[in-house]
Amino acid sequence: MGNLISNIVSLAKRRGFIFPSSEIYGGFGSCYDFGPLGVEMKNNIKKAWWDEMTRQTFSSKNLGGQIEEQRNIVGLDAAILMSPKVWQASGHLTAGFADELVECKKCHKRFRQDEIVGGRPPNIFGRGRTSAPVACPECKGELSRPRKFNLMMKTFVGPVEDEASQTYLRAETCQGIYLNFKNVLQTMRLKIPFGIAQIGKAFRNEITPGNFIFRTREFEQMEMQWFCHPTSADDWFEFWLKERLNWYYNLGIKKENLRAVEVPEKERAHYAKRQVDIEYKFPLGWKEIEGVHNRGEWDLYNHAKYSGEDLKYSSAGSGQAYYPYIIETSVGVDRSLFAFLCQAYTEVRGGRTETTKAVKEVEILLKLDKRIAPVKVAVLPLVKNKPDIVNKAKEVYQLLKPHFVCQYDELGSIGRRYRRGDEIGVVFSVTCDFQTLKDNTVTVRNRDTMKQERVVISDIVGNIGHTFL
Ligand code: GAP
Repeated sequence: MGNLISNIVSLAKRRGFIFPSSEIYGGFGSCYDFGPLGVEMKNNIKKAWWDEMTRQTFSSKNLGGQIEEQRNIVGLDAAILMSPKVWQASGHLTAGFADELVECKKCHKRFRQDEIVGGRPPNIFGRGRTSAPVACPECKGELSRPRKFNLMMKTFVGPVEDEASQTYLRAETCQGIYLNFKNVLQTMRLKIPFGIAQIGKAFRNEITPGNFIFRTREFEQMEMQWFCHPTSADDWFEFWLKERLNWYYNLGIKKENLRAVEVPEKERAHYAKRQVDIEYKFPLGWKEIEGVHNRGEWDLYNHAKYSGEDLKYSSAGSGQAYYPYIIETSVGVDRSLFAFLCQAYTEVRGGRTETTKAVKEVEILLKLDKRIAPVKVAVLPLVKNKPDIVNKAKEVYQLLKPHFVCQYDELGSIGRRYRRGDEIGVVFSVTCDFQTLKDNTVTVRNRDTMKQERVVISDIVGNIGHTFL
């Protein structure tokens, strides 16, 4: 990992965003725990996505007037454990859902072939390059021919561990959506086109996890499945791709750091008629953070075939019965969080904090969008040895805490405390000082502009609150 990434990883650990899982036992297989700030940030990302999916209306400008005005997307929270038949029907138990690996005949380490021969990173559904292997990157030994390793995580349900009780942890959340297609359609009285959104954990027995939280064995996905008429699927694909790119831009990802890559047919996921990967320019290089897929009728057709249930949609108007096409948008919560962290991480040489004298010092500023920033407000007494000021600051903290994620900090100089806040992206710092005791006002410092405004304490909740609307 590069220097920049190491600094980001170290900040994430030092400030309570992300810890290695089972750390006291030496860590465990590329699993990570999200600390107090990590979980806030994750929740903020999930909320931003959920609101975007379930609470937006269409603007006719985006639609070119072709498609209905309703933007119906409803939520679902399906079980992680499902019948093993689901994974037969979906194609995940066959070679399609596998990593192609080569093994060093000398040191027996395994590598994803595409990673050692270069080229764009593979999707884990087995697409990737099949160029001739080179020597082992570790010991220069001879490499074997590529072999497929299935990524499904096996588990057992019930007291007996036999074939009959074996199932899998879900490898993508969307399968639960397909199984509930009819339930949701009927109970919510929906008409095509409509969508179902879901956020939840997914598991893959990645053979070569790594790059911090980029590729892990347990991760979270935010997936939306858009059910539409086959003839409008191409338009919807374009629509959703644009929407998804805009979502990242709105949350602070710079245009030059995001790109949409059309995936050629032989590298696509086994279900995809069309696939565009949204890639972010990590300090590690361009890497996928989201996939937009046209899954055609693959999923509903196969689940109907394997289950014997009729999963066609009957159009009341035309009397037509057909399998809707599915346009999927699928993003990893952890991976997008990593991208947001990388985008926000800034090292300011020479110091930016007002009171910094040591101009050589490097200050870290996490320029997270205010909706994603884990801590919105820090409350700081100017000095900690004046009980009146400290008590006032505690009062202000109590006032703000029910409304925003807040931190109270009285340790060290005020400059040092501002810096501590900047490092985790605290949006506003509220300071109680000597003037507070005279006129009940506090200073509100804006992280990005560093401007300070005096605000009456009784207005503080509204004053800060309106910037989050
Ligand atoms: N339902 C489609 C699907 O799962 P995918 O491209 O395999 O498509 C979608 O995964 C997203 O899930 C990826 O773009 C990535 O953000 C996230 N993801 C997939 N595998 C991951 C892993 N091992 N670790 C972290 N995130 C992962």
